[in-house]
Amino acid sequence: MSAHAELDRVEATAIALALDAGRLIRDQVGRHTTVEFKGEIDLVTEVDKASEALIANGISAAWPGHALLGEEGSTTGVPVEHAEWVWIVDPIDGTTNFAHGYPHFAVSIAIARGGVGEIGVVYDPSRDELFVGRRGQGSRCNGHPIAVSKTAALGRAILATGFSYDRAYRHRQIAQWISLHDHCQGIRREGSAALGVTWLAAGRTDGFYEAPINPWDIAAGAVIAEAAGARVTSLGGQDYAIFDREILVTNGLIHTELQQALADSLPVGVP
Ligand code: IPD
Ligand code: CA
Ligand code: CA
Repeated sequence: MSAHAELDRVEATAIALALDAGRLIRDQVGRHTTVEFKGEIDLVTEVDKASEALIANGISAAWPGHALLGEEGSTTGVPVEHAEWVWIVDPIDGTTNFAHGYPHFAVSIAIARGGVGEIGVVYDPSRDELFVGRRGQGSRCNGHPIAVSKTAALGRAILATGFSYDRAYRHRQIAQWISLHDHCQGIRREGSAALGVTWLAAGRTDGFYEAPINPWDIAAGAVIAEAAGARVTSLGGQDYAIFDREILVTNGLIHTELQQALADSLPVGVP
C-alpha cells in the first residue's frame, strides 16, 4: 500500500470513530449519571470513558500496531514509546460543558507518524460539524475547505483561550486575560480547547493560546489549523510539536503582535 493510500485509510477510520463517539456522547447529554472528580474542579463522567473505550477498540480492530495516548488512560496495548503510529485522543474535550448540558464539546483525534502530526479530526456533535485536516493538504468542515482569517492587526482581532484546572495557574491566566483584553476586540473562553483551535482554523477567531495544556486537548486542532494556513508555535514562538503542552496559534498575520502582547501581559508578582 502506498503511504498516501495508508493515510487515507487511517483517516477514514478516525472519521468513523469520531462520528460514532460523537453520537454516543450526544445521546447521553442530560442522561449521564456518574461524575467523578480527578482534581478539585477536573471532572470525568462514564461517557468520557465509554467514548474513549469505543475509540480504543476501533483502533485495535482496524490498526493493531497503532498506539493510543488517551486522556482517560485507555490503551491499545501497544506502548506509545515504541509505536510509529500514535493516536492522541480526547474522548470529550469540554467535559465540564458536557456534564452541565452546555452544548460546546467535541471528540478530538490526532494521528502522528514518527512524531509528526499527520491527521487531525475534531467532531462537534452539537452542531454536527466534522473538521478534518491533513498535513500539507488543507482542512475541511463537513467537506468544505476552511481557511484562517485575514485580520491583520491585534486591535481588530477576536481571540480565544482556556483556563487550567489548577487554580494557581488560573490566577496567572486571568491576569494575562485582563492585560490582553486592552489590546484586542475581545477574548472568548468556551471550555473546549479542541474547538478553540479548530474554530481559529475556520476563521471564526484570529488567535488562540493556552498554557499549560495537554497534548490531547490541542493536537488534532493544531494539525487542522496548520493545514488551514495557521501559524502554530509555543507562547515564546518556537515551532509547535505534536506532544507539546502549550500553544499559540494565529492566522499568521497577528502572530508576532500577539506573542509580544502575551510576553508583556504578566504583571510582576503574579505566580
Ligand atoms: C479542557 C478544555 C478546556 C481547557 C482545559 C482542558 P477537558 O479539557 O479543553 O477548554 O481550558 O485546559 O483541560 O477536561 O474538557 O477534556
Ligand atoms: Ca481536554
Ligand atoms: Ca476530556
